[in-house]
Amino acid sequence: MKNLKLAIVLIAVGVIGLVAVNLYSPSYSYTISSSDFQSNGERIYFTATSNSGKPIISSIGAMTMRGGMMSCAACHGADGKGGRGRMMMWTFNASDIRYSSLASGIGNEKPYTDELIKRAITEGLDSEGKKLENPMPVWQMSVEDQNDLLDYLKTLK
Ligand code: HEC
Repeated sequence: MKNLKLAIVLIAVGVIGLVAVNLYSPSYSYTISSSDFQSNGERIYFTATSNSGKPIISSIGAMTMRGGMMSCAACHGADGKGGRGRMMMWTFNASDIRYSSLASGIGNEKPYTDELIKRAITEGLDSEGKKLENPMPVWQMSVEDQNDLLDYLKTLK
């Protein structure tokens, strides 16, 4: 009898494991192809997935999401101009993240440099080192992907 209970527990753990693996494997989501976008940076901006297949992960507090679930465009808009938005318990004002705006320091005392923009994305700090507010996620992505994304921000007019 004890063994049966153990078996049931093991099966349950196995099933949960499978569901979790399915949810988090990229193949579970709709297929995104590199030919849908003009550049890898554009793809990352709109889908949070990379042509390299390397994972792009976003965290808002304790909530962590795998690429494809949430993208820069979802909050900052297709044109990068930002604006007011809503997500779960947050109403927020997403910044204008067109490169020209970041580099001229609009809304921030200190203009952003390329390195500071990458820091904002990967560490969640503004140009002056202050913590960016929710729901701006903290992103994990490869250095190549960060550079491609930065190049794309430079094309937003
Ligand atoms: C869930 C919504 C959301 C997503 C997704 C998101 N952002 Fe943000 N982002 C924000 C909000 C809100 C702010 C403003 C935070 C603040 O004022 O402290 C912000 C701020 C920023 C800033 C700092 C600008 C400033 O005002 O100093 C940069 C740079 C930025 N986001 C880039 C990105 C990039 C690049 C992506 C995609 C990889 C992205 N964000 C995805 C909501 C989001």
